[in-house]
Order: sequence, then C-alpha cells, then structure tokens
Amino acid sequence: MEVYSMKNPFPARALGVRSVTKPGSAKETVHIDISLQGSGLEYTTGDALGVFPCNDPALVDALISAVGLNPDESVQQADGTSMSLREALISMYDITSIKKSTLSKWNAVARSAKLDAIIADKEALKNFVYGRDLLDLATDEETKAHFVNADAFVSCLSKLAPRLYSIASSPLAVPGQVSLCVGVVRYNSLDRARGGVCSTYLADRLSPGDTVRVFVHSNKGFRLPEDGSAPIIMVGPGTGIAPFRAFWQQRTIDHATGPMWLFFGNPYKATDGCYEDELAPLVESGALKLSVAWSRDQDHKIYVQHLMDAAGAEIWHWLEQGASVYMCGDANRMAKDVEQTLLTIIAREGGRTPEEAASYLADLRTQKRYQKDVY
Ligand SMILES: Cc1cc2nc3c(=O)[nH]c(=O)nc-3n(C[C@H](O)[C@H](O)[C@H](O)COP(=O)(O)OP(=O)(O)OC[C@H]3O[C@@H](n4cnc5c(N)ncnc54)[C@H](O)[C@@H]3O)c2cc1C
Ligand SMILES: NC(=O)c1ccc[n+]([C@@H]2O[C@H](COP(=O)([O-])OP(=O)(O)OC[C@H]3O[C@@H](n4cnc5c(N)ncnc54)[C@H](OP(=O)(O)O)[C@@H]3O)[C@@H](O)[C@H]2O)c1
Repeated sequence: MEVYSMKNPFPARALGVRSVTKPGSAKETVHIDISLQGSGLEYTTGDALGVFPCNDPALVDALISAVGLNPDESVQQADGTSMSLREALISMYDITSIKKSTLSKWNAVARSAKLDAIIADKEALKNFVYGRDLLDLATDEETKAHFVNADAFVSCLSKLAPRLYSIASSPLAVPGQVSLCVGVVRYNSLDRARGGVCSTYLADRLSPGDTVRVFVHSNKGFRLPEDGSAPIIMVGPGTGIAPFRAFWQQRTIDHATGPMWLFFGNPYKATDGCYEDELAPLVESGALKLSVAWSRDQDHKIYVQHLMDAAGAEIWHWLEQGASVYMCGDANRMAKDVEQTLLTIIAREGGRTPEEAASYLADLRTQKRYQKDVY
C-alpha cells in the first residue's frame, strides 16, 4: 500500500465546507470535513493536517496576462514531466508572497533601479514585500519584467508550501474522516482585495467531491493525559478552539470522567460563536465548564486571560487537583499574555514568588501538564 506523507500527499476527497461563524463576522471561520478513506493515514487527537493549497485561478490569469505569457505554454518540472503554465501557477508555485530570492531573480530580468535599492536595504525590503504579490511587481512600470518564456518565469518562483491546521476531530468520532476549523484570511492592500492562499482555497474554492492534497503532521507535544479522570483546562480563543473540539469528542467517546474547562474568545457574541450546538449539551451535562470572552461586546477588551485571572482561585484548585493546561491559537500576543496570567495566578493563589511560579510552570511542562500549540 502506498505510504502518504508531506513528500507524497494523499489526494483526499473534500466532503463539505460550512460556516462556523455567522454572516458579518469579523473572524470569518469555516469548518471543513475531508475523507481520508483509502489513504491508510492515521492520526491521534492533537495532531495537525498538512494541506497543499491551490492559488486563485483568477489571480493566476491576471498574472499570466500581466507578464505577457501564454497560459498553455508548457513548463518543465524537476521530475521531467511538464504541465501548462496556468496549471503550474495554480498548483505548484508561490505567487502571493515575495521572497528575497524571488525578487533578486525577478530583478535579473527586470533590471529595475528601484528594486536594486530595495534588495540592498533589509528594512526597505521588509516594507516593500509586506502586502505585495507578484501581480503588483508585474503591473508596476518601475518593476515589471519581460520573460523569454514560461520556464524562465517559473524559475524565479519558489514552490507553494503546505499549510498546517490543527485537526478539529477525534479519529474515533468519524473514522476515516478529518475536520478542520479555519479562519479565513482576507485583507486589502494597494487597493486590491487579497486572500490567504490556503484559507481561501478551503473556504471559497473547494467543493464537496473535489480533491485536496493532504498529509498528517504528528504533534506529540499536544496530547490528552492518559488518565481520563485528570481535569483539563483548554485555552483556545479564535481558531485556537480547533484541537479542543477533538479533545472534547475524544473524552466523550472514552467516557472520561475528568472535568474539562474551555476558555474561548472571539469578538462578538452575535456573530462569532463556534460549535455552540456541540458545547451546549456538554455544559448542560456538567462535563464541561465554558468561559467565553467576547472581546468587543463592550467598550473595553475582554480576553480569555481576563476571565482566567478572575477565576484564578478555581484554576489554582484545578492545578492542585492534577489538571493539565493546553493553549492553542495566536502565538504573537495571546500565548504570551495567557502564560503571564498563568504565572500570576500560580504566584498569587499558590503564595509563590515569581521565581517559584516560573519553576512551578516549568514542572508542569516537564510533566507534560502544560502544552502549547501556537502559531
Ligand atoms: C501547527 C499549526 C496549526 C495551525 N492550525 C490552524 C487552525 O486550526 N486554523 C487556522 O485557521 N489556522 C491554523 N494555522 C495557521 C495556518 O497554517 C495558516 O497559516 C493560515 O490559514 C493562513 O494561511 P493562508 O495560506 O490562508 O494565508 P497566506 O497566504 O499564508 O497569507 C498569510 C499572510 O498574509 C499576509 N497578510 C495577512 N493579513 C495581511 C494584511 N492585513 N496586510 C498585509 N498582509 C497581510 C501576511 O504576510 C500573512 O503572513 C496553524 C498553523 C500551524 C503552524
Ligand atoms: N501564521 C499565520 O500565517 C497565521 C494565519 C492566520 C492566523 N494566525 C494567527 O492566529 C491567530 C488566530 O487567529 P483567529 O482569527 O483565529 O483569532 P484571533 O485573532 O486570535 O482572535 C480571537 C480572539 O482573541 C482576541 N485577542 C486578541 N488579542 C488577544 C490577546 N493578546 N490575548 C487574548 N486574546 C486576544 C481577539 O480579540 P480582538 O480581535 O477583539 O482584539 C478575539 O476576540 C491570529 O491572531 C494570527 O496571529 C497566523
């Protein structure tokens, strides 16, 4: 049987895509079900799925037209096979982010004085590439380039990288199937609406029955405790909720008795709830304690860490009862703030100095009772 991996992704079948958040949400989020049947791929609760995206065909067509090439011209692949330029740009090459190597190769053809200066200046380069793509380069009089043929053009480009998504399902919930919870990246830059490659591919361009190339990315550092009676505290604002759906499914299927506490957060209660229909019965049965921070429903921000701090005494009690703490979502700000709040709670409620609190958290980490999956 064929072994599927990042190097040899499985052509999986998309089963369905539905909105998680409501229309008008500031955090448009979709749920995607994908069949792994026939792949032999197995995963464990806490793992991630790698997805090879496709670029937006409309953007590809605009780019080919801007560089003046024929979309049907064939381009040679490293393995000796060939495909049309259009097909290659849709499925093989990164056309939305500009790396220094791409810009240098592009400029070897464009011979632009403006690009010469930008490439030589690290800070200018960083500012220039932010919010720009290859279509911007190709349509700017000062930076446009004329390639002799399609092969010369694609030789400037880097390969389209796969994106990882926390698996939002337990393998036991629906065997042979995997679910994702994806925040759709959309923004405006230089007067053009743009989208994240993979999140818009999954949300806008993937229909049931379509093929999507995937692989399983093991995440051994993000595992439920073996003891089903141990309490778990899950902190997952935004799409950080994804792996916790797998956690609550797994614990329900296992008839695990350990209490669960989920800290979730999103901007507005009216539009941004996630999996509320699944959470309600768990809360009602007493299996799950749910604390939700609606960040923009009042004139000051309320984030998960504010709710954690207010519930510090109870969190401390759970920790002393052997609870494991899991954190998933934004690495830039949330993860640091939540960790600081945990340290504050340990110090305040546990009567420890800041150094002792840090050492307490380090011990939790060593015991695999503090695990993070942040991006
Ligand atoms: C282990 C792991 C697990 C993950 N799990 C999940 C998950 O469960 N759900 C989820 O949604 N994501 C998850 N992610 C993130 C995911 O992998 C992708 O990074 C995300 O979906 C964006 O990919 P994209 O291809 O849509 O966007 P890309 O095409 O990669 O575009 C993103 C880039 O767009 C640019 N950009 C964005 N906004 C702006 C702006 N306003 N102005 C200018 N430029 C801008 C930035 O350069 C940004 O880096 C996870 C990541 C990791 C590493
Ligand atoms: N690497 C990538 O390419 C990539 C791609 C997509 C997302 N991400 C990261 O993943 C994160 C998750 O995105 P998401 O759209 O699911 O949700 P998110 O942006 O994290 O927002 C979810 C909730 O968290 C709140 N929040 C903002 N700052 C916070 C903080 N410091 N501490 C705690 N909560 C905070 C938000 O409030 P407000 O918005 O009201 O402030 C919102 O209510 C993004 O922030 C982004 O950094 C990375």
